[in-house]
Amino acid sequence: MAEPKLAVCRKNRSSSERKRRRALVQPVAASSPMARKRPSSDGEGPPAEAPFSNDSEEDMFGDYDSFYGNDSLIAQVADIEHKYLQDKNIDVKAAGEIVLGNLQSGVHQKEQDNFSASQNVVVLKSDKEGACQMCDSDPADGNQELAESVLDDLPSSQLLCFEKMDELPSASRTSPISEGRNECVNSFSDKIRDPLSYAGAEHRDRPTDSSSRSKCVLFKSESLKDHLKSAMTGNARAQTLQVSKTKQLKEAVLSEEIFVARKAIESSSLDIGPFYGLPSKVKELFRQLRGIETLYEWQHDCLMLESLQQRKNLIYSLPTSGGKTLVAEIIILQELLCRQKDVLMILPYVAIVQEKVRGLSSFGIELGFLVEEYAGSKGRFPPIKRRIKKSLYIATIEKGHALVNSLIETERINDLGLVVVDELHMLGAGSRGAVLEITLAKILYTSKKTQIVGMSATLNNVGDLQKFLQAEYYTNNFRPVELKEYIKIRDTIYAVDSKTQNGFAFSRLLNFKYSSNLEKADPDHIIALVTEVIPKYSCLIFCPTKKNSENVASMVSKYLKKEFRAHKEKEKQDLIKNLKSIGNGTVCPVLKQTIPFGIAYHHSGLTNDERKSIEEAYSAGVLCLLACTATLAAGVNLPARRVILRAPYVGNDFLKKSQYKQMTGRAGRAGIDSAGESILIVQEKDKHLVQDLVHSPLENCYSNLLLELTKGMQSLLLSLVGLKIAVTHEEVDNFMCCTLLGVQQQLLSKEKSFSEIIKDGLENLIEKGLLKGGISEKDHNSKSTLTITPLGKATYKGSIDLAYCNILYRELKKGLEGLVLESNLHLLYLSTPYDMTSTCSPDWMIYLRQNVDNAVVNRFYLTFVLYTLLKETNIWSVSEKFNLSRGYVQNLLNSAASFASCLLHFCEELEEFWVYKALLMELTKQLTYCVKTELIPLMEVAGVLEARAKQLYNAGYKTLAHLANANPETLVRMIEHLSRRQAKQIISSAKMLLSEKAEALQEEVEELLKVPTDIPGIH
Ligand SMILES: Nc1ncnc2c1ncn2[C@@H]1O[C@H](COP(=O)(O)OP(=O)(O)OP(=O)(O)O)[C@@H](O)[C@H]1O
Ligand SMILES: [Mg+2]
Repeated sequence: MAEPKLAVCRKNRSSSERKRRRALVQPVAASSPMARKRPSSDGEGPPAEAPFSNDSEEDMFGDYDSFYGNDSLIAQVADIEHKYLQDKNIDVKAAGEIVLGNLQSGVHQKEQDNFSASQNVVVLKSDKEGACQMCDSDPADGNQELAESVLDDLPSSQLLCFEKMDELPSASRTSPISEGRNECVNSFSDKIRDPLSYAGAEHRDRPTDSSSRSKCVLFKSESLKDHLKSAMTGNARAQTLQVSKTKQLKEAVLSEEIFVARKAIESSSLDIGPFYGLPSKVKELFRQLRGIETLYEWQHDCLMLESLQQRKNLIYSLPTSGGKTLVAEIIILQELLCRQKDVLMILPYVAIVQEKVRGLSSFGIELGFLVEEYAGSKGRFPPIKRRIKKSLYIATIEKGHALVNSLIETERINDLGLVVVDELHMLGAGSRGAVLEITLAKILYTSKKTQIVGMSATLNNVGDLQKFLQAEYYTNNFRPVELKEYIKIRDTIYAVDSKTQNGFAFSRLLNFKYSSNLEKADPDHIIALVTEVIPKYSCLIFCPTKKNSENVASMVSKYLKKEFRAHKEKEKQDLIKNLKSIGNGTVCPVLKQTIPFGIAYHHSGLTNDERKSIEEAYSAGVLCLLACTATLAAGVNLPARRVILRAPYVGNDFLKKSQYKQMTGRAGRAGIDSAGESILIVQEKDKHLVQDLVHSPLENCYSNLLLELTKGMQSLLLSLVGLKIAVTHEEVDNFMCCTLLGVQQQLLSKEKSFSEIIKDGLENLIEKGLLKGGISEKDHNSKSTLTITPLGKATYKGSIDLAYCNILYRELKKGLEGLVLESNLHLLYLSTPYDMTSTCSPDWMIYLRQNVDNAVVNRFYLTFVLYTLLKETNIWSVSEKFNLSRGYVQNLLNSAASFASCLLHFCEELEEFWVYKALLMELTKQLTYCVKTELIPLMEVAGVLEARAKQLYNAGYKTLAHLANANPETLVRMIEHLSRRQAKQIISSAKMLLSEKAEALQEEVEELLKVPTDIPGIH
């Protein structure tokens, strides 16, 4: 029985050392499942959790085995090597053959190895009786794998290793992938040889070898085992696990194709290779994972645009469901694989970021790039610099901005080859739009090489946006499923038809028989409209308010016939059971009543876990009707056969055209429905307004830099100086002309010139003590420079709203005099977000009767809510106790976690606050997770919320490694309400996270061992 040498080496590292090392690479802001939670008050939150995308049911992990299996192979090779390489006459090629031959006969030996994994550390146990067992794989699967030839099991990098030995004298051309792999193999084998790292342990374990001289002759510096070991390590890092022969071949073709594609793209030829310059494997992946066989014609045309191939910036606009994402993803893959640059993808909501991370992780694993999540309090600033793999950062608007700032600050902005912005019309969306504008303006100004691609379904004043982004424009009216728009007035349905005089054409009379009771309960005939489609097809009803959506769901279920209960009865009972376990024994009474009929409401008052369960049940057809608010329309992928707009209002405001488009755009499922229809319920009094609504053009997109000065213009000016992007008044003026506001400056009131507005902003910052320097006319001419003060730096680094930075400083300073550390109440008060105080109305009469500052009272009230939450870790009981909606409590928790992490960054910049650092780091973690500690590692995986984490934990999946190596079939079997597709996505996300963590550790080792070039006295 061979000794598990590599495993022993690794095992020798003490657990405390491992912990220390892990701690070193932890991001300052705790990485968290924050992103799974409700929208925070800074806007960085989801309107709703997104479901999984429409992936195919193909088993994309079928070819993979656990990486741990490789250790047994190493052991066998060591054994065989030891046995055969005694013979001095053996040549390299023969050695390879012998090894392979013996491996094949060594299958049985492999069966006697027993593996176990502890976090990222591989431990190989020798177990005499033990059968071969992967840490999570099904025994049956294991046996089946063992029946395969070991040669088939060889990862391709090992095969390459044999090939390499075969071709030792003639170094042939290497493709980028093998180049990368060789690089990583070499660097790792260096480490193996390095006495500081592994050699000591290896020498201890290896029997004294009399044939070492002959080996030297044969292999120059490395033994065959070293070759294999390093190849396997490189292989593991590349996340290419054991593969079949076909897979090896495919991989070889892939690397060759990437090489050719790179060359083609470099030569800017119009003929760009098999699949838009990408390997045909990419096409295969889109087919397997997304069910996409061919591209739509417009997608092809768009990708073939000459301007795109010349890497010009691009805006493209198509109706909802037009398939815009696919084009963006192909452009992203070109950048990552062919141009070898990092990519930033900006999406509007946390839930959508997570959906994308889950969806693209499998591409990352297959094609060898990293997918990094930047949402909620997840993400590292600056990002880890990867030596080999390229990174795709998927970020919310706010995190995207922080990421770009950190790249500019560390002079790495040029590493970013491409920035993709989905829902580009968000530029006009209040203070979040301002942050997006600031981000894009900074990229445009600091990195001429970074390409920007933006897309949207609802753009109007494209000219302004083109000018701002210096971009080309592509548009098309394509929609794969036709959308038929109707309005309903009383009992008549009219088709929206711009050709008719009043814009509407009679379509039909609604066919219904209502009792007088029902007529009273449902005067708008919602039941008649929905029963035309459900339960066979799905239906969404957009309602103006949260309360209304609950009422509609309740009303419809009350009057539906009993037969509706029979449809998918068991699944609906399961859903209620699931919701009950999520709510620690309680289910919302409305949902309890509506779900048996296949109906639910959906709005921001649900907890993340509830929302996710409801969305999944709707996607799976268990629920057929959701009564929802406008938040569901914002990008989440929950299409329906029929979309009903309960009234042309969102809250008290009349519907905007873009909102109307987004809501109606949910109708019609590509590839499933042949048609989609929307019906807007209109009261006679609103008829004219609705006429305008459906026929007017989309709203223009205007800059929001001046909307909320402290979040827009002033915060931009502060960071321009802080990042040294522009440090004189003149430079600042120049920069500002490149913003969307600069492009639209003629729309500003004539009272003040653009330059005067900028000057006012700078003066204000100087007054607040955030900037230093002069900006008078004289200074302007003499180009005197502006500098940032420590408080200014802390403010922009902590992304603190300028409106609160002074008060925050004062409160922290006061805290130094007497911070109460008996409990975390004082710290929690400091971390309670200022901007949420206006949303709180404490039921606290005694205090209100005193003459106290309302803002302080409100904030302290919220602090109590947080305090109770951290103690009880139960959103339901806390919301009951404080008489707040559970969605609000969840939102408060998310905002506080985000704010605590901002506070931490703020304190890091100010020496006097050093003491807060450690305290806030811990508090941020507590707020971020607010769950039992053992669930934290599982909740790091995108899309695993508390309820799912509990299930997984109870089923024995306790660490990231357990999930990354799980077998999808076993997972589905063991975890209730988990589809195969979801299981596979959880596994691929866990694999990606694990690989990212391992990379980070390796980068750190490299960095530590790097010999400085400036050692005194050594040239
Ligand atoms: N070529 C294609 N063949 C088949 N299905 C496709 C194709 N392209 C995209 N789809 C599918 O169409 C659906 C809608 O695509 P996508 O989400 O990209 O739309 P969109 O244009 O971004 O719409 P929205 O503006 O609503 O976000 C997705 O389920 C996607 O997988
Ligand atoms: Mg889209």
